[in-house]
Amino acid sequence: MSSHAMAGGKLLEVRGLHAQYGATRVLHGLDFEVASGGITTILGANGAGKTTTLRAVCGMVKTQGEVLLAGTRIDGMATENIVRLGLAHVPDGRGTFLNLSVEENLKLGAYTRHDHADIQVDYDRMYGYFPRLRERRRQQAGTLSGGEQQMLAIARALMLRPRLLVLDEPSFGLAPLLVQSLFEHLRVINQRDHIGMLVVEQNAALALKLADHAYLLETGHVVMSGPSDTIRNNESVRRSYLGY
Ligand SMILES: Nc1ncnc2c1ncn2[C@@H]1O[C@H](COP(=O)(O)OP(=O)(O)OP(=O)(O)O)[C@@H](O)[C@H]1O
Ligand SMILES: [Mg+2]
Repeated sequence: MSSHAMAGGKLLEVRGLHAQYGATRVLHGLDFEVASGGITTILGANGAGKTTTLRAVCGMVKTQGEVLLAGTRIDGMATENIVRLGLAHVPDGRGTFLNLSVEENLKLGAYTRHDHADIQVDYDRMYGYFPRLRERRRQQAGTLSGGEQQMLAIARALMLRPRLLVLDEPSFGLAPLLVQSLFEHLRVINQRDHIGMLVVEQNAALALKLADHAYLLETGHVVMSGPSDTIRNNESVRRSYLGY
């Protein structure tokens, strides 16, 4: 880790991030951070640019600005190289290989690793977090329930042993009880394995409970940021995103 990152305690640092699809500009100079071992959430209405922000960090859209992972510039890098530096992305819509089995998906998640004995250990760790996946290890991912596919997508990303896990709408399509347990798992994974997280989530109450810091995005601009507790208590956030 560079002295820069150690000094700031920042796992991810984003400065002046712009992004566009063709001629359509979607992000207009965002600044945000994930602290070392921290969890940051990005809140915002539909179309605000949350998914695009995550894609921009992962090198999947055309960007300008600076993105640093543990002090190393990753903006402009190919996604594959960003992955090798320890950034794992769980896209919206899950992104598992539907025609492969659960265990084959986990194996693919570890494709950048060469520590084969530890990969075996990590299968068991993932099955510990998500016991349903163990029962279904030989089942085709495409035949899993929505919730099981979400668990598999997260487990597959964790098989990379990332420093930063980027999650887009992890609760999407899940029953409320499953959402609760998924977010408890994420907290345990963050604390036990010291994996930082950048989370976009429609359920703002849940996201603010999980995260230490929050940013509010409106049409490609950060309009508010701060510790999650502060954001949670903000009058207009309560009205617009928390519904009370
Ligand atoms: N591939 C694309 N090509 C052109 N425009 C796009 C593309 N993807 C997204 N956009 C536009 O960029 C803007 C931001 O989209 P984005 O998906 O980042 O929003 P979001 O905040 O994730 O919304 P949601 O909460 O609905 O998921 C939207 O206006 C959208 O129409
Ligand atoms: Mg989105």
